[in-house]
Amino acid sequence: MNLDNIVKELTLEEKITLLVGAGISKTILGAAGETRAIQRIAIPSVVLSDGPAGVRIYPARLSDKKTYITTAFPNAVLLASTWNIELIEKVGKAIGEEAKEYGVDVMLAPGLNIHRIPLCGRNFEYFSEDPLLSGEIAAAYVRGIQSVGVGATLKHFVANDQETNRFFINVIASERALREIYLRAFEIAIEKSNPWAIMAAYNKLNGRYCSQSPWLLTKVLREEWKYEGLVMTDWWAGDDPIEQIKAGINLIMPGDDNIVKRLLEAYKQGLLDEKTVNDRVSRVLNLVLKSLKYQGYTPSFKPDLEKHSEIAYEAAVEGFVLLKNDNALPLSSSARIAVFGKGSYFTVKGGLGSGNTYPKHVVSVVDGLRGRGITIDEELDNIYRKVLPSFWGNVDFMNSIRRSRIDLIKEADALGVSWLLIDFTEHMLEYLNNLHVPENFLDINVLEGIAYRNDVALITISRISGEGFDRLPLKGDFYLRDDEFDLIKKVSEVFHRFNKKVVTILNVPGPIEIDSWRDLVDAILVVWLPGQEAGRAIADVLLGRNSPSGRLPLSWPNNLYEIPTMRGFPGEPKNNPVKVVYGEDVYVGYRYYDTFNVEPAYEFGYGLSYTEFEYRDLEIRKENDMVKVKLKVINVGRYPGKEVVQVYIKPPQGRIDKPIQELKGFQKTKLLNPGCEEEVEIVIPIKYLSSFAEGKWTVERGIYEVRVGSSSRRIKLSGYLELENDICFDVSWNRTRCNEGN
Ligand code: BGC
Repeated sequence: MNLDNIVKELTLEEKITLLVGAGISKTILGAAGETRAIQRIAIPSVVLSDGPAGVRIYPARLSDKKTYITTAFPNAVLLASTWNIELIEKVGKAIGEEAKEYGVDVMLAPGLNIHRIPLCGRNFEYFSEDPLLSGEIAAAYVRGIQSVGVGATLKHFVANDQETNRFFINVIASERALREIYLRAFEIAIEKSNPWAIMAAYNKLNGRYCSQSPWLLTKVLREEWKYEGLVMTDWWAGDDPIEQIKAGINLIMPGDDNIVKRLLEAYKQGLLDEKTVNDRVSRVLNLVLKSLKYQGYTPSFKPDLEKHSEIAYEAAVEGFVLLKNDNALPLSSSARIAVFGKGSYFTVKGGLGSGNTYPKHVVSVVDGLRGRGITIDEELDNIYRKVLPSFWGNVDFMNSIRRSRIDLIKEADALGVSWLLIDFTEHMLEYLNNLHVPENFLDINVLEGIAYRNDVALITISRISGEGFDRLPLKGDFYLRDDEFDLIKKVSEVFHRFNKKVVTILNVPGPIEIDSWRDLVDAILVVWLPGQEAGRAIADVLLGRNSPSGRLPLSWPNNLYEIPTMRGFPGEPKNNPVKVVYGEDVYVGYRYYDTFNVEPAYEFGYGLSYTEFEYRDLEIRKENDMVKVKLKVINVGRYPGKEVVQVYIKPPQGRIDKPIQELKGFQKTKLLNPGCEEEVEIVIPIKYLSSFAEGKWTVERGIYEVRVGSSSRRIKLSGYLELENDICFDVSWNRTRCNEGN
């Protein structure tokens, strides 16, 4: 039966049933939800699972011998740091394959909110402060997932950029800020990947819940952007299911029978009409018909976990960002390494909440180094293993719990404990990893011995964050704790006295304060939350088997309060905010730093390599509605490496106030051996140069400076592009007349 016939065949009750989810999934344990089935005409229930770091389902089931292990991929902030479209598509495909083989029809990923404030508790699930980078990476991820027949969901639409009071906070933002930054990321991703679904956010936007906003869900999404897929609510979002359906929601999640009843009542009372119900349900059915479930695919329950762990490794390697390197890295493979810091033992793979994953293993920094045959200081290792015991036991015990999580779950089965235990265990372990065991327990004499017999010190600092809470502007989160600072200071003093180098690894969901200690150490490598292959990838980058090629997808602040968005954080009133005003307008991230001439600790797009690249022969051409930027990139250093070529455009001074420059295109090169070059061509649609004012998009006439560089502040070549006339577009990007000034 085709879609129209199915809609005709369904009773009104059945149609309304399909608009409401069937609750948390009972088919695939741990999956976040499923739709309702209509047995009578063989409409199956499709399963939806989180996302985004991998498929979040429970790794084992009661009374079932099979396992349902999934891969923990690096978190989104790391994926964006790769700036590598093909690689992210590959990650998306691997996630899609796991979903497919475990019977998941739709992934609730990727997350596409903007890093507006460095402390947002879910930034690890989001890509960047920039809408172009976010949108492009999200599109690649979606294309990957959908290439195997599994649906992807862009979330959370829109402006869910903080966790504090996320269920009801009212975001006040100008239409321009929304169009140019917050909506723009979604718009690009939709245009370039056609996702099966979009999830409306919890928060209110300019006074209305996103899930109940006709402006957002019907005017912008359907009428202007012509989006044809399904729109669902976030879980338990909003306060009125009738308004949700009327505003444009197709599927209320997770859903319960009460909501079905309320919608039926509303229909009977004439508050919902049949036309609306038909429109909403047709998109639910459209998705169901596309699903592997409906197509009759039988999951194998055997995804290729080996292959996927290699992809998780590959992505991790490319997303590490080398912030500083004073001749400390790469390490020689014969180097003797003294490994410090709890994070070296309990390396944090990913953030908490719905973005969590339950993999079979997480390779810690020490295990990663050992696995590569590196000599790490045994005595120090023994000290750590003795000092770290918590009330759960020692490190080996804790890691064995991690490994044998499956057995633990089976024991829970025997005890009749609820499935929630799995989540609890996972959270507990992550919590313990992060537990306050002071870092500065080493006696100075012991440290001297260690510095004497080793070549280099490695210190890992870890942080974790999760859904539901924002990070804290306090010691232990954004700032180093005193004992962490003390460890870095003492180790650096002693090692430097012996002429040995100190390398710091930041295993973090987002920026931490760095200014007070970065001069103490010789190298800083940001590994974000790198997924299950953490230690392997870290070891290989430290050893120079791979040159770091990650670049910051955000501006790394010196101090939190230099950022305008932080001044109003977390909203008004401060102690229990009901609203947050995006007073900075479009000046988010580097748009702020660059326009107002403030120096961040490390700028957007920044990241060092072991090698060096030269840029040559810049050509800029305008062809119809495209700007073509062509150049050569040559590896002039001593190591193989990849470069991320970034194009920023500085607009002319016109009528509209604009950021001094914005990212308009980028490309990562392939692996270039020393002496090798690549010709890079970056094509920028002219519409990307526009600003939103007075209800339309305008590219103002004048001279544009095209700046090509390796970061937003390391511009290596630049040229000009002159536009003689204004070019205007309506909200659907149709060319329109520019009235003023022409
Ligand atoms: C989160 C979503 C998630 C959903 C289902 C919500 O709390 O905000 O990102 O997909 O739960 O787990």
